Amino acid sequence: MARIHLVSGASSGIGARIAEELQRAGDEVVPVVRRAEDAAKLGATRHLLCDFADPAQTQSAFQAFAGPVDSFINAAGIAIGKAIWDTAPGDIGNLMNVNLISPMLACGALRGKINPGGAIILLSSQSAYRGGWDDAYNASKGGINTFIKSLAMKLAPDVRVIGIAPGIVIGTRMTAGRQQNDLERIKETIPLKRFAEVGEVAAMTLSLLGPAGANVTGAVIDMNGGNYLR
Ligand SMILES: NC(=O)c1ccc[n+]([C@@H]2O[C@H](COP(=O)([O-])OP(=O)(O)OC[C@H]3O[C@@H](n4cnc5c(N)ncnc54)[C@H](OP(=O)(O)O)[C@@H]3O)[C@@H](O)[C@H]2O)c1
Repeated sequence: MARIHLVSGASSGIGARIAEELQRAGDEVVPVVRRAEDAAKLGATRHLLCDFADPAQTQSAFQAFAGPVDSFINAAGIAIGKAIWDTAPGDIGNLMNVNLISPMLACGALRGKINPGGAIILLSSQSAYRGGWDDAYNASKGGINTFIKSLAMKLAPDVRVIGIAPGIVIGTRMTAGRQQNDLERIKETIPLKRFAEVGEVAAMTLSLLGPAGANVTGAVIDMNGGNYLR
């Protein structure tokens, strides 16, 4: 039977590819988007409209969604690209709303609406462990990792909660602005001498949703080419 997945960030990059691969597998995707036309591009018959910059709006939208679903995949996210001393308070607040607070409230509002055997998969980042230039972004992903543990214990044994922590993923809007020579320099420092590809993150997500992921919960899966070992 076709499964049903809520996918945030479905308008671009990793989330869009995850949505497409799930549809290709014969499942229904309910995109969580800011613009209805982004759901229409996926040919979705229903969608959730909300802006993660507004946590109250996000919570209401997820509370109003009746379910049931088999998974919630959170691939919405933003970066600032600045060190903390160049970051305005409002920008940190906005980033935390999008990357941490709204995803947490969304998960909370889905309580009882995810079928037993289902899963929540939250996109994290290598930078949660390794740090990096964008302090606010890194801290938001650290928060997501702790939330994953906390929620996994509460939702077991029915629902698994898993993180995926890629290093740099090429081919998304988030990495599009980076200088090519900068990327080449970073690549040389990675043991596997490569970045993750969008399709690889999607494949990992689909794998974790299936039988291969049946014993995985509370964990954050590294996809960083050996760039950070913990
Ligand atoms: N790319 C990387 O190198 C990398 C590495 C590690 C982790 N990640 C994580 O992977 C996830 C996906 O990133 P990506 O690389 O695919 O980036 P992307 O191409 O920029 O996609 C980001 C997605 O987040 C959505 N989004 C942004 N602000 C939102 C808001 N206020 N409300 C609702 N949705 C919002 C965007 O929707 P709109 O079209 O409406 O803006 C878009 O669908 C993020 O959580 C990111 O932190 C990425």
